[in-house]
Amino acid sequence: MISVRLAPLAGITDWPFRLLCFEQGCDCAYTEMVSAMGYLCAPRNHPATVSLLHRDAREPRLILQLFGKEADLMARAAEELSACGRYDGIDLNMGCPAHKVASSGEGSGLMRTPENAVRIMSAVVKASRLPVSVKFRLGWDDSSINVVELAKAAEDCGVREITVHGRTRMQQYSGSADWSWIARVKESVGIPVMGNGDLFSAEDAIRQAAESGVDGVMLARGALGNPWLFGQIKARLAGEVIAGPTLHQRIETALRHYDMLLSWKVKRVAVNEMRKHIGWYIHGMRGAAQMRARINLMEEPEQVREALLTFEHEASKEL
Ligand SMILES: Cc1cc2nc3c(=O)[nH]c(=O)nc-3n(C[C@H](O)[C@H](O)[C@H](O)COP(=O)(O)O)c2cc1C
Repeated sequence: MISVRLAPLAGITDWPFRLLCFEQGCDCAYTEMVSAMGYLCAPRNHPATVSLLHRDAREPRLILQLFGKEADLMARAAEELSACGRYDGIDLNMGCPAHKVASSGEGSGLMRTPENAVRIMSAVVKASRLPVSVKFRLGWDDSSINVVELAKAAEDCGVREITVHGRTRMQQYSGSADWSWIARVKESVGIPVMGNGDLFSAEDAIRQAAESGVDGVMLARGALGNPWLFGQIKARLAGEVIAGPTLHQRIETALRHYDMLLSWKVKRVAVNEMRKHIGWYIHGMRGAAQMRARINLMEEPEQVREALLTFEHEASKEL
Protein backbone atom coordinates (compact mmCIF):
# COMPACT_ATOMS: atom_id res chain seq x y z
CA MET A 1 0.00 0.00 0.00
CA ILE A 2 1.28 3.50 -0.75
CA SER A 3 2.43 5.72 2.08
CA VAL A 4 0.05 8.57 3.00
CA ARG A 5 1.94 11.47 4.53
CA LEU A 6 1.49 14.88 6.07
CA ALA A 7 3.63 17.57 4.38
CA PRO A 8 5.90 19.97 6.20
CA LEU A 9 3.88 23.17 6.70
CA ALA A 10 5.60 26.10 8.40
CA GLY A 11 3.41 27.57 11.14
CA ILE A 12 1.02 24.59 11.04
CA THR A 13 2.54 21.13 11.42
CA ASP A 14 3.53 21.32 15.06
CA TRP A 15 3.07 18.17 17.16
CA PRO A 16 -0.59 18.75 18.15
CA PHE A 17 -1.69 18.95 14.51
CA ARG A 18 0.57 16.07 13.48
CA LEU A 19 -0.84 13.92 16.27
CA LEU A 20 -4.41 14.50 15.10
CA CYS A 21 -3.35 13.45 11.58
CA PHE A 22 -1.62 10.32 12.92
CA GLU A 23 -4.79 9.40 14.82
CA GLN A 24 -6.65 9.37 11.52
CA GLY A 25 -4.16 7.14 9.70
CA CYS A 26 -1.28 9.35 8.54
CA ASP A 27 1.78 7.12 8.02
CA CYS A 28 4.54 9.69 8.33
CA ALA A 29 4.83 13.41 9.05
CA TYR A 30 7.47 16.11 8.72
CA THR A 31 8.38 18.91 11.07
CA GLU A 32 7.97 22.51 9.99
CA MET A 33 11.09 23.58 8.11
CA VAL A 34 14.00 24.31 10.42
CA SER A 35 16.80 26.68 9.39
CA ALA A 36 20.19 24.95 9.69
CA MET A 37 21.84 28.29 10.46
CA GLY A 38 19.10 29.24 12.96
CA TYR A 39 19.43 25.89 14.71
CA LEU A 40 23.22 26.11 14.95
CA CYS A 41 23.30 29.75 16.09
CA ALA A 42 20.35 29.98 18.50
CA PRO A 43 20.61 28.73 22.09
CA ARG A 44 19.35 25.14 22.14
CA ASN A 45 16.79 26.04 24.83
CA HIS A 46 15.31 28.93 22.82
CA PRO A 47 11.52 28.42 23.03
CA ALA A 48 11.04 28.66 19.24
CA THR A 49 13.74 26.03 18.65
CA VAL A 50 12.37 23.74 21.35
CA SER A 51 8.91 24.02 19.86
CA LEU A 52 10.03 23.34 16.27
CA LEU A 53 12.13 20.33 17.24
CA HIS A 54 9.68 18.65 19.63
CA ARG A 55 8.43 15.16 18.96
CA ASP A 56 5.54 13.80 20.97
CA ALA A 57 6.08 10.23 22.19
CA ARG A 58 2.88 9.15 20.42
CA GLU A 59 4.11 10.16 16.95
CA PRO A 60 5.02 6.96 15.09
CA ARG A 61 7.16 8.35 12.26
CA LEU A 62 8.61 11.84 12.06
CA ILE A 63 11.09 13.32 9.60
CA LEU A 64 12.91 16.55 10.39
CA GLN A 65 13.05 19.07 7.55
CA LEU A 66 16.08 21.36 7.20
CA PHE A 67 16.57 24.37 4.97
CA GLY A 68 19.63 26.41 4.16
CA LYS A 69 22.13 27.01 1.40
CA GLU A 70 25.54 26.35 2.96
CA ALA A 71 26.60 22.72 2.61
CA ASP A 72 28.82 22.75 5.70
CA LEU A 73 26.10 24.24 7.94
CA MET A 74 23.46 21.89 6.56
CA ALA A 75 25.79 18.95 7.17
CA ARG A 76 26.59 20.04 10.73
CA ALA A 77 22.93 20.52 11.60
CA ALA A 78 22.05 17.17 10.01
CA GLU A 79 24.85 15.42 11.87
CA GLU A 80 23.66 16.70 15.28
CA LEU A 81 19.96 16.31 14.65
CA SER A 82 20.26 12.84 13.14
CA ALA A 83 22.19 11.72 16.21
CA CYS A 84 19.73 13.02 18.81
CA GLY A 85 17.52 9.93 18.54
CA ARG A 86 14.33 11.87 18.00
CA TYR A 87 13.66 11.51 14.27
CA ASP A 88 13.30 8.85 11.58
CA GLY A 89 14.91 10.82 8.76
CA ILE A 90 16.30 14.14 7.58
CA ASP A 91 14.54 15.94 4.72
CA LEU A 92 16.06 18.78 2.70
CA ASN A 93 13.83 21.63 1.62
CA MET A 94 14.43 22.48 -2.04
CA GLY A 95 10.90 23.66 -2.69
CA CYS A 96 10.04 26.64 -0.49
CA PRO A 97 8.96 29.48 -2.84
CA ALA A 98 8.83 32.31 -0.25
CA HIS A 99 10.72 35.35 -1.56
CA LYS A 100 12.89 35.71 1.54
CA VAL A 101 13.99 32.08 1.30
CA ALA A 102 14.18 31.43 -2.46
CA SER A 103 15.75 34.72 -3.51
CA SER A 104 18.63 34.14 -1.12
CA GLY A 105 19.35 30.76 -2.73
CA GLU A 106 17.61 28.55 -0.15
CA GLY A 107 14.50 26.36 -0.59
CA SER A 108 13.41 26.37 -4.25
CA GLY A 109 16.30 28.79 -4.94
CA LEU A 110 18.55 25.69 -4.83
CA MET A 111 16.91 24.38 -8.00
CA ARG A 112 18.47 27.40 -9.75
CA THR A 113 21.93 26.44 -8.49
CA PRO A 114 22.01 22.68 -9.09
CA GLU A 115 25.73 22.45 -8.32
CA ASN A 116 25.06 23.82 -4.81
CA ALA A 117 22.05 21.53 -4.42
CA VAL A 118 24.32 18.56 -5.20
CA ARG A 119 26.98 19.83 -2.80
CA ILE A 120 24.39 20.03 -0.03
CA MET A 121 22.84 16.61 -0.74
CA SER A 122 26.22 14.97 -0.84
CA ALA A 123 27.46 16.64 2.37
CA VAL A 124 24.27 15.90 4.29
CA VAL A 125 24.16 12.25 3.20
CA LYS A 126 27.73 11.85 4.44
CA ALA A 127 27.05 13.59 7.76
CA SER A 128 23.65 12.14 8.61
CA ARG A 129 23.15 8.97 10.63
CA LEU A 130 19.61 8.78 9.27
CA PRO A 131 18.26 8.30 5.74
CA VAL A 132 18.13 11.60 3.83
CA SER A 133 15.26 12.66 1.58
CA VAL A 134 14.71 15.78 -0.53
CA LYS A 135 11.56 17.73 -1.33
CA PHE A 136 11.68 19.45 -4.75
CA ARG A 137 9.41 21.56 -6.92
CA LEU A 138 9.53 21.03 -10.71
CA GLY A 139 12.14 23.74 -11.17
CA TRP A 140 12.40 27.52 -11.00
CA ASP A 141 10.04 28.38 -13.87
CA ASP A 142 8.44 26.79 -16.92
CA SER A 143 11.55 27.31 -19.02
CA SER A 144 13.92 25.72 -16.51
CA ILE A 145 12.22 22.55 -15.27
CA ASN A 146 15.04 20.36 -13.97
CA VAL A 147 13.46 18.09 -11.37
CA VAL A 148 14.28 14.89 -13.29
CA GLU A 149 17.99 15.77 -13.49
CA LEU A 150 18.07 16.81 -9.83
CA ALA A 151 16.22 13.69 -8.73
CA LYS A 152 18.79 11.53 -10.55
CA ALA A 153 21.62 13.55 -9.00
CA ALA A 154 20.00 13.07 -5.58
CA GLU A 155 19.90 9.32 -6.08
CA ASP A 156 23.57 9.35 -7.11
CA CYS A 157 24.41 11.29 -3.91
CA GLY A 158 22.81 8.60 -1.77
CA VAL A 159 19.48 10.33 -1.09
CA ARG A 160 16.99 7.60 -0.19
CA GLU A 161 13.66 9.19 -1.08
CA ILE A 162 12.26 12.12 -3.04
CA THR A 163 9.10 14.20 -2.84
CA VAL A 164 7.98 16.30 -5.78
CA HIS A 165 5.46 19.14 -5.56
CA GLY A 166 4.21 19.44 -9.14
CA ARG A 167 4.61 23.20 -9.52
CA THR A 168 7.50 25.49 -10.38
CA ARG A 169 8.75 28.12 -7.95
CA MET A 170 7.30 30.91 -10.09
CA GLN A 171 3.87 29.31 -9.95
CA GLN A 172 3.94 29.61 -6.14
CA TYR A 173 0.51 28.06 -5.43
CA SER A 174 -1.29 29.20 -8.61
CA GLY A 175 -2.53 26.99 -11.43
CA SER A 176 -2.53 23.29 -10.77
CA ALA A 177 0.12 20.75 -9.88
CA ASP A 178 1.40 18.90 -12.96
CA TRP A 179 1.51 15.25 -11.95
CA SER A 180 2.88 14.16 -15.35
CA TRP A 181 6.27 15.50 -14.19
CA ILE A 182 5.96 13.54 -10.97
CA ALA A 183 5.37 10.41 -13.10
CA ARG A 184 8.51 11.22 -15.12
CA VAL A 185 10.57 11.50 -11.94
CA LYS A 186 9.20 8.16 -10.77
CA GLU A 187 10.24 6.56 -14.08
CA SER A 188 13.72 8.08 -13.88
CA VAL A 189 14.90 6.97 -10.44
CA GLY A 190 15.00 3.75 -8.47
CA ILE A 191 14.34 5.29 -5.03
CA PRO A 192 10.83 5.87 -3.65
CA VAL A 193 9.01 8.97 -4.89
CA MET A 194 6.24 10.81 -3.02
CA GLY A 195 3.82 12.92 -5.05
CA ASN A 196 2.51 16.22 -3.74
CA GLY A 197 0.16 18.91 -4.96
CA ASP A 198 -3.58 19.54 -4.98
CA LEU A 199 -4.76 16.43 -3.16
CA PHE A 200 -8.00 17.58 -1.58
CA SER A 201 -10.02 14.37 -1.58
CA ALA A 202 -9.52 10.61 -1.40
CA GLU A 203 -10.43 10.41 -5.10
CA ASP A 204 -7.70 12.94 -6.01
CA ALA A 205 -5.11 10.97 -4.07
CA ILE A 206 -6.04 7.53 -5.41
CA ARG A 207 -6.24 8.74 -9.02
CA GLN A 208 -2.98 10.68 -8.98
CA ALA A 209 -1.12 7.89 -7.20
CA ALA A 210 -2.38 5.31 -9.71
CA GLU A 211 -1.65 7.46 -12.76
CA SER A 212 1.83 8.53 -11.67
CA GLY A 213 2.91 5.26 -10.06
CA VAL A 214 4.31 7.03 -6.97
CA ASP A 215 5.17 5.18 -3.78
CA GLY A 216 3.31 7.64 -1.60
CA VAL A 217 1.28 10.81 -1.49
CA MET A 218 1.84 13.86 0.65
CA LEU A 219 -1.09 16.01 1.80
CA ALA A 220 -0.72 19.67 2.67
CA ARG A 221 -3.59 22.15 2.27
CA GLY A 222 -6.08 19.29 1.93
CA ALA A 223 -5.37 18.23 5.52
CA LEU A 224 -6.03 21.66 7.06
CA GLY A 225 -9.02 21.31 9.36
CA ASN A 226 -9.45 17.87 7.79
CA PRO A 227 -7.22 15.20 9.36
CA TRP A 228 -9.95 12.71 8.40
CA LEU A 229 -8.66 12.83 4.82
CA PHE A 230 -5.88 10.40 5.83
CA GLY A 231 -8.42 7.81 6.98
CA GLN A 232 -10.54 8.32 3.90
CA ILE A 233 -7.57 7.68 1.60
CA LYS A 234 -6.47 4.62 3.57
CA ALA A 235 -10.03 3.25 3.47
CA ARG A 236 -10.26 3.78 -0.30
CA LEU A 237 -6.95 2.02 -0.78
CA ALA A 238 -8.40 -0.93 1.14
CA GLY A 239 -11.47 -0.87 -1.11
CA GLU A 240 -13.74 0.72 1.48
CA VAL A 241 -15.49 4.06 1.67
CA ILE A 242 -15.89 5.88 4.97
CA ALA A 243 -18.16 8.81 5.68
CA GLY A 244 -16.79 12.27 6.36
CA PRO A 245 -16.60 13.55 9.95
CA THR A 246 -19.79 14.49 11.75
CA LEU A 247 -20.36 18.00 13.03
CA HIS A 248 -19.67 16.72 16.54
CA GLN A 249 -16.34 15.15 15.47
CA ARG A 250 -15.25 18.42 13.88
CA ILE A 251 -16.01 20.51 16.95
CA GLU A 252 -14.66 17.92 19.37
CA THR A 253 -11.41 17.69 17.38
CA ALA A 254 -11.09 21.47 17.20
CA LEU A 255 -11.47 21.66 20.99
CA ARG A 256 -8.93 18.90 21.56
CA HIS A 257 -6.54 20.63 19.21
CA TYR A 258 -7.05 23.81 21.24
CA ASP A 259 -6.32 22.03 24.51
CA MET A 260 -3.09 20.53 23.14
CA LEU A 261 -1.90 23.91 21.83
CA LEU A 262 -2.73 25.58 25.15
CA SER A 263 -0.76 22.92 26.99
CA TRP A 264 2.28 23.62 24.83
CA LYS A 265 2.39 27.27 23.74
CA VAL A 266 1.88 30.51 25.64
CA LYS A 267 -1.79 31.48 25.71
CA ARG A 268 -1.48 34.46 23.35
CA VAL A 269 0.23 32.33 20.69
CA ALA A 270 -2.15 29.39 21.10
CA VAL A 271 -5.23 31.64 20.86
CA ASN A 272 -3.84 33.30 17.75
CA GLU A 273 -2.79 30.10 16.01
CA MET A 274 -6.05 28.35 16.83
CA ARG A 275 -8.06 31.04 15.02
CA LYS A 276 -6.89 29.81 11.62
CA HIS A 277 -7.34 26.13 12.55
CA ILE A 278 -10.92 26.74 13.75
CA GLY A 279 -11.64 28.55 10.49
CA TRP A 280 -10.52 25.41 8.64
CA TYR A 281 -12.44 23.00 10.91
CA ILE A 282 -15.75 24.79 10.35
CA HIS A 283 -15.09 25.74 6.71
CA GLY A 284 -18.12 25.22 4.49
CA MET A 285 -20.60 25.02 7.35
CA ARG A 286 -23.53 27.40 7.53
CA GLY A 287 -22.66 30.49 9.57
CA ALA A 288 -18.92 29.68 9.47
CA ALA A 289 -17.86 33.14 8.25
CA GLN A 290 -19.70 34.96 11.05
CA MET A 291 -18.40 32.45 13.58
CA ARG A 292 -14.84 32.98 12.39
CA ALA A 293 -15.21 36.75 12.62
CA ARG A 294 -16.46 36.46 16.21
CA ILE A 295 -13.75 34.05 17.27
CA ASN A 296 -11.07 36.30 15.80
CA LEU A 297 -12.05 38.93 18.38
CA MET A 298 -11.95 36.57 21.36
CA GLU A 299 -8.89 36.51 23.61
CA GLU A 300 -10.00 33.89 26.14
CA PRO A 301 -9.96 30.18 25.24
CA GLU A 302 -13.05 29.60 27.42
CA GLN A 303 -15.01 32.13 25.35
CA VAL A 304 -13.98 30.31 22.18
CA ARG A 305 -14.95 26.94 23.66
CA GLU A 306 -18.41 28.25 24.61
CA ALA A 307 -18.86 29.80 21.17
CA LEU A 308 -17.93 26.57 19.41
CA LEU A 309 -20.26 24.48 21.56
CA THR A 310 -23.10 26.93 20.90
CA PHE A 311 -22.27 26.81 17.19
CA GLU A 312 -22.49 23.01 17.29
CA HIS A 313 -25.76 23.11 19.21
CA GLU A 314 -27.36 25.61 16.79
CA ALA A 315 -26.06 23.79 13.71
CA SER A 316 -27.25 20.40 14.97
CA LYS A 317 -30.81 21.75 15.26
CA GLU A 318 -30.73 22.40 11.51
CA LEU A 319 -29.65 18.88 10.61
C1 LIG B 1 1.32 27.57 4.87
C2 LIG B 1 2.27 26.66 4.15
C3 LIG B 1 3.50 26.36 4.73
C4 LIG B 1 4.40 25.52 4.06
N1 LIG B 1 5.58 25.19 4.67
C5 LIG B 1 6.44 24.31 4.05
C6 LIG B 1 7.64 23.89 4.69
O1 LIG B 1 7.95 24.28 5.82
N2 LIG B 1 8.44 23.03 4.00
C7 LIG B 1 8.12 22.56 2.74
O2 LIG B 1 8.87 21.77 2.16
N3 LIG B 1 6.97 22.94 2.14
C8 LIG B 1 6.14 23.78 2.76
N4 LIG B 1 4.95 24.12 2.16
C9 LIG B 1 4.58 23.46 0.89
C10 LIG B 1 3.71 22.21 1.15
O3 LIG B 1 4.44 21.24 1.88
C11 LIG B 1 3.21 21.58 -0.17
O4 LIG B 1 4.33 21.23 -0.93
C12 LIG B 1 2.33 22.53 -0.97
O5 LIG B 1 1.37 23.18 -0.15
C13 LIG B 1 1.61 21.77 -2.10
O6 LIG B 1 0.75 20.78 -1.59
P1 LIG B 1 -0.86 21.01 -1.53
O7 LIG B 1 -1.30 21.39 -2.93
O8 LIG B 1 -1.39 19.68 -1.08
O9 LIG B 1 -1.10 22.13 -0.56
C14 LIG B 1 4.06 24.97 2.78
C15 LIG B 1 2.83 25.30 2.21
C16 LIG B 1 1.93 26.13 2.87
C17 LIG B 1 0.60 26.42 2.24
